[in-house]
Amino acid sequence: LPSLPLLLLLKLQFVCISVQVVKHLEPFRLSLEKLKEVSTRLRKDMIRGLGKHTHHRAAVKMLPTFVRATPDGTEKGDFLALDLGGTNFRVLHVRVMEEEQKMVKMDSQLCAIPQEIMLGTGEQLFDHIAACLSEFLDSQNLKGQTLPMGFTFSFPCEQKEIDKSILIRWTKGFNCSGVEGEDVVKLLKEAIHRRGDYDISSVAMVNDTVGTMMSCGYRDQTCEIGMIIGTGTNACYMEEMKNVKRVEGEDGQMCINTEWGGFGDDGSLEDILTEFDKVVDRTSINPGVHTFEKMISGMYLGEIVRLVLMKLTEKKLLFKGEVSEALRTKETFETKFISMIEDGLENAKKILTELGLTWDLVDARVVRLVCETISSRSARLCAAALATIVDRIRANRGLPHLKTTVGVDGTVYKKHPNDELQKAMHFLAPDCKIKFLVSEDGSGKGAAMVTAVAHSLSKHPHCMMVPPLCFIVRND
Ligand code: BGC
Repeated sequence: LPSLPLLLLLKLQFVCISVQVVKHLEPFRLSLEKLKEVSTRLRKDMIRGLGKHTHHRAAVKMLPTFVRATPDGTEKGDFLALDLGGTNFRVLHVRVMEEEQKMVKMDSQLCAIPQEIMLGTGEQLFDHIAACLSEFLDSQNLKGQTLPMGFTFSFPCEQKEIDKSILIRWTKGFNCSGVEGEDVVKLLKEAIHRRGDYDISSVAMVNDTVGTMMSCGYRDQTCEIGMIIGTGTNACYMEEMKNVKRVEGEDGQMCINTEWGGFGDDGSLEDILTEFDKVVDRTSINPGVHTFEKMISGMYLGEIVRLVLMKLTEKKLLFKGEVSEALRTKETFETKFISMIEDGLENAKKILTELGLTWDLVDARVVRLVCETISSRSARLCAAALATIVDRIRANRGLPHLKTTVGVDGTVYKKHPNDELQKAMHFLAPDCKIKFLVSEDGSGKGAAMVTAVAHSLSKHPHCMMVPPLCFIVRND
């Protein structure tokens, strides 16, 4: 252990350096007033996204999901659930039991998606998925049965029907050719037919936010918002039908997939974008899109930290001005390092050594300060966006106060301290009392939940009001 005078000296050194470091970090520090402004901008963008004539140029897409109600706990059945959205693809066999009000994951299998497939052709991607599904069905002895299937596809899709979903654009490191503008269910079915060793029956398409809301909604019926802060970020919520101008009908509600990751794509966040955000965007595989997501989610946070550390080193405020080869290399600073470093300086020391850096205690503390700043900005921006949604629900219902539940999933949410998010929410939506319910496998079980209802309703093709859920065919 360092002696007391040495500790004091280190502290003094840290204070001197951090004064300069803080100047560089200033653009990441968003005041509560600024967050309020961001929230106001999002509120306007959400209205634009819902509008029949403004939707096509709206940055926040506000996509109708055709899910018309949250679960009531009476759903049941046996389902397959597919989950594609990150670097893995999962197949699950889920049983929903009405009597015991519970969902049981029977079994599941994980298949990695190698980068060459993430950046290859759509045909390669769907062949890979179909092969993984085949292996799972074999291992479970399920090839003879055709179970209804829920497909959690965590990318922005224009849903035409419950089993017809057109990919608007890839996000989060995927860029397979020939899929944007196409029906994802059709591409999956074609890949399965190319194999010819099994078949599937009905498919219900679900965004992961919707899956999260639905699986949390099964446990807590006041859950009407789903939020993901993971590799990507997004939220969905129950909107009044009369405000969903692109779908006919005035009564009841419909779940809207906001795709808030696209917020700022029209330049509306220019004043809060830092030089580092701009580099992250420019060097990403989808420059110019998903601006908000790039400031918040796990795919990008580590890279933002790396760029800041590089700049501070250039300015001789870190590592005596010496950058290591690893730190110079894109994406070597993983997002998981941020929460590890926030957890304690010992982790910081280990990580800096692994990155080939020569560091001292002051460096370790500066790095922790950088990590805290970037993760706190992410949390505060999420709070601004979530506050916009909860306050919209409150205003929609003409209530002075709203008590509601948000189903949440994603590693960034789960691994980081969330007091920052909660504190900011308190300030930004003072009239709303929010409970956060962490989803247990919302992508898998939520897909099963949506499928459960879609399947039972397939016998009611014109259903408008059949509880607990109803999917209708769009009108535009
Ligand atoms: C996608 C969303 C998804 C979110 C979280 C974003 O990149 O556009 O559809 O919900 O990631 O996975």
